[in-house]
Amino acid sequence: MSATTITALPFGCAGDGHPVQLYTLDDGAGLRAQVSDYGATVVSLHAPDREGRAGEVLLGFDALDGYLAPEQPYLGAVIGRYANRIAAGRFTLEGRLHQLARNHHGQHLHGGLRGFDKVVWESAVRQGAAGPELVLSLASPDGDEGYPGRLEVEVVYALAHGRELRLDYRARCDAPTVLNLTNHMYFNLAGTGSVLDHELQIHAQHFTPVDAALIPTGELRSVDCTPMDFRQPQRIGARLQPPDEQLRHAGGYDHNWVLDGAAGTLRSVAHLRDPASGRTMEVLTTQPGMQFYSGNFLDGTLPGRDGVRYERHAGLCLETQHFPDSPNQPQFPSTRLDPGDEYRHTTVYRFGSDAGGG
Ligand code: BGC
Repeated sequence: MSATTITALPFGCAGDGHPVQLYTLDDGAGLRAQVSDYGATVVSLHAPDREGRAGEVLLGFDALDGYLAPEQPYLGAVIGRYANRIAAGRFTLEGRLHQLARNHHGQHLHGGLRGFDKVVWESAVRQGAAGPELVLSLASPDGDEGYPGRLEVEVVYALAHGRELRLDYRARCDAPTVLNLTNHMYFNLAGTGSVLDHELQIHAQHFTPVDAALIPTGELRSVDCTPMDFRQPQRIGARLQPPDEQLRHAGGYDHNWVLDGAAGTLRSVAHLRDPASGRTMEVLTTQPGMQFYSGNFLDGTLPGRDGVRYERHAGLCLETQHFPDSPNQPQFPSTRLDPGDEYRHTTVYRFGSDAGGG
């Protein structure tokens, strides 16, 4: 029997006056997630350290205002329709050229000017097989942000046994389109300071190198003898100096890893550990790729939770996804979605500690 509870409280009003809710999912055993229907955003996540003390593991804001600020870097939000970059914001599908917003240095980033992170989703709590779950859904009209086809999207948040936060993504369309959903939580398992001392393992033999605009070159490059080799756990800060060409392009890690194992199968792809608190997090996903972003563009100007300014490397993202710019890279796994097909992906974040259980 799951002891998970889900409760809701008002969280203010979005720019268009739409009321916003904050849901609290609590497993009664130390894992607690707060999720807003604004951007389907994970606002807060508490997990126990090696002494069993629950503490915050996400960057976030105290109030909705922080999330509404247009330039905030997608803290905790669901990203759509297309996570990461599409070169020059354009792609061709069925012989038709689609021009999207070039909202980031001439490229299309994270769904455009008003992506799924900037809208209030429909929300409902329902009883799932393993306990209560929070169902967030939205209908994205044909032409939304320049993307073809009407899309119906559902993201389900649940806390599962064994200290897991589980996200199930589903979508259907009425005309051929492209789709690449992720979640943009910034983790800091210590709850404070930088993540450079966290140890990260990524089960991947290859990554997708990028050009200076952070667009993949199309190559799948071996991680062997590069700072991208996380096949064994590595301290994140260990190889940032002196930077190689790839790290220089991004000011740190901001790359997509080609995950081992078959996409479509839920498998373990990454493991993160904070040696100070002993907190650990394992990532499981059905996706073919994962963007590891080491918070390079955080610059101390963002006033976060409790008035803390988020400095460079204050948090890191592990964004399970299809590869960036796939609509223009035919050799990458396809992000095309057709009417009649269902987009289905799952990502699980499993928390534990190095004192056992993780
Ligand atoms: C991207 C970064 C970007 C960050 C915040 C990440 O997913 O890879 O390049 O700066 O999101 O927008």
